[in-house]
Amino acid sequence: MDTVTLAAGGGDQPIRLLQITDTHLFAQAEGQLLGIRTADSFQAVLDAVQAQKAAFDLILATGDLSQDYSTASYSRFADMVRPLGRPVFWLPGNHDDGPLMRRVMPDFGISPARQVLLPGWQILLLDTQVYSVPHGWLKPEQMSFLEQCLSSEPARYSVICLHHNTFPVGSTWLDQHDLKNGSDLLGLLGRFPNARLVLCGHVHQETDLEHNGVRFISSPSTCIQFEPLSRDFGLDTKGPGWRYLQLYPDGRIETQVHRLPDGHFVPDGAATGY
Ligand SMILES: [Fe+2]
Repeated sequence: MDTVTLAAGGGDQPIRLLQITDTHLFAQAEGQLLGIRTADSFQAVLDAVQAQKAAFDLILATGDLSQDYSTASYSRFADMVRPLGRPVFWLPGNHDDGPLMRRVMPDFGISPARQVLLPGWQILLLDTQVYSVPHGWLKPEQMSFLEQCLSSEPARYSVICLHHNTFPVGSTWLDQHDLKNGSDLLGLLGRFPNARLVLCGHVHQETDLEHNGVRFISSPSTCIQFEPLSRDFGLDTKGPGWRYLQLYPDGRIETQVHRLPDGHFVPDGAATGY
């Protein structure tokens, strides 16, 4: 089922989202990415979210949920988010096996929906994965899906979720791996004034900019953080993070990034890539 309808918000109240991204989980709980046990850092993020008692209506997982392409890593992800008790929607990143996810996620109780209809808003989940390469590309099928959703719901504001960054973040090594046909996306969004937000993962850092009335936001990973404005591969010592977003009935968006304290999940500083 590609489309689901959810009740959330109401009156002047916003729709409240939790974004988690780039969990990079392994089949084994001990699996490490550059010295960080990714299941441990993700669990610490989830524990912090629970401790905050922040209200959210649904969870968006914007790709790179796995690091080893295994069914067990997706089962692990589902087991870990289940205690939050909220619907989870996802899209694949370059480290995922998208076709495998589409097959197994429903078995783990996670919807394969690509369009989430909410009061006054819709959330669209796009696949930018290109088999075996790190950069992103919106294939014609994804572009036509996006166009169809935007044109058929003119009364809803739209959040477009995808893994890859549309705009460069200023890191030479990382910006080689951005969304290669971002100009096609911008051209399409320019025809639909209700497009409000493009939300991504991939860059393992927070960015927030506006282009022609659309916000473009990226968020920290729940494991390793990439050093901003870095020519070569570099790791940041900031803690794993997550993001809340509030979508208001008048089209406004508010958002907050939270992180675990520095020093709890410090990656291997000698790493030269991943
Ligand atoms: Fe990632």
